[in-house]
Amino acid sequence: MAGEKPLTVVTCTAPVNIAVIKYWGKRDEELILPINSSLSVTLHQDQLKTTTTAAISRDFKEDRLWLNGEAADVGHPRLQSCLREMRRLARKRRGGSAGAVVPLSLAYKVHVASVNNFPTAAGLASSAAGYACLVHTLARLYGVEGELSEVARQGSGSACRSMLGGFVQWLMGERPDGKDSIAQQVAPETHWPELRVLILVVSAEKKPVGSTAGMQTSVDTSPLLKHRAEAVVPERMAQMIQFIQQRDFEGFGQLTMKDSNQFHATCLDTFPPIFYLNDVSWRIIALAHRFNAHHGKTKVAYTFDAGPNAVVFTLADTVDEFVEVVKCSFPPGSNGDQFLKGLPARRASLSEELLSAVVLEPVPGAIRYILLTKPGPGPQSLDDPSLHLLGADGLPRPSA
Ligand code: DP6
Repeated sequence: MAGEKPLTVVTCTAPVNIAVIKYWGKRDEELILPINSSLSVTLHQDQLKTTTTAAISRDFKEDRLWLNGEAADVGHPRLQSCLREMRRLARKRRGGSAGAVVPLSLAYKVHVASVNNFPTAAGLASSAAGYACLVHTLARLYGVEGELSEVARQGSGSACRSMLGGFVQWLMGERPDGKDSIAQQVAPETHWPELRVLILVVSAEKKPVGSTAGMQTSVDTSPLLKHRAEAVVPERMAQMIQFIQQRDFEGFGQLTMKDSNQFHATCLDTFPPIFYLNDVSWRIIALAHRFNAHHGKTKVAYTFDAGPNAVVFTLADTVDEFVEVVKCSFPPGSNGDQFLKGLPARRASLSEELLSAVVLEPVPGAIRYILLTKPGPGPQSLDDPSLHLLGADGLPRPSA
């Protein structure tokens, strides 16, 4: 068609989120409907993000996907669910006013390239940011608006919470079609400016059991998980929302730790049992409790997902001291100057009293590095064409 560009390209970024009330267990595996609601904090994209470019052209022969520069399987059922849903919504929109960047034929094939600004090998959850980014980018490409967390959810449950910034709840919903199983913002990222997040990346040798397989075995075998979903989480959701609204770190921190511990208890209650925490994780838990006991209040709160890395919430005034405590407890190897990544911290001198009460048996090298970040906004659209991951030929650019 005269005047129509051969290639239409959109690039967006999306964040990682960390749950403080955990999602664990599905009632519908196809639609990814959970057995309980959950609540998370969206992390800042300056430190952790996925960037995705989607391009469409009448010249493309097939849908194609590249992950971190490598060609990947576009036939993955969850990816297909998201693509199908987005095309269905786009078709539905077609009846209305023009919304897409340019008029596009929905029969055209799409090329998608996605990269993370953090190493996948670090064991940090990337599927949430990945699917949130895919759905947001396709929405921009096709001009689809409205409730999209429901689509992201079908890529990975936790991805629906990455569609919004700040503090986000995923309502489990009741309907069999999942239309009410959506994410909602509880408070924006500006709500609690002092809140900080430290990711303690543990030196782990083996890859743990994936969440998808793990949680299904838990649903099938753990009576504790059933009790948790029915009798514990509903009350905790209400409490957590209140603690966040009141910026009550004591309440927020304690409930965060309790919920992480209960999630890992359900893993142990699964048969055969699943272990995500390792010896270093347990040492971090003990360290946090000694640190809080020394101060006589909750100053740091840990949470762990399906792996040994700790995510520690704290307030800005505690960061310097706690980073120093972690350094003394897990003395870095040769990378001492690169031990802290992300936001900066100042050197703190620790009192003898604190050292003797909190730093007990240092384990050199057990933590690879700390990433310091804070709550952040939801997915963003990038306008600068130089940031596209796909070139004019629709293939990954060499730098991407
Ligand atoms: C422990 O969202 O990765 O991180 O829906 O099967 O893709 P699927 O699982 P996923 O599970 C996340 C589990 C968790 C807790 C949480 O993020 O709420």
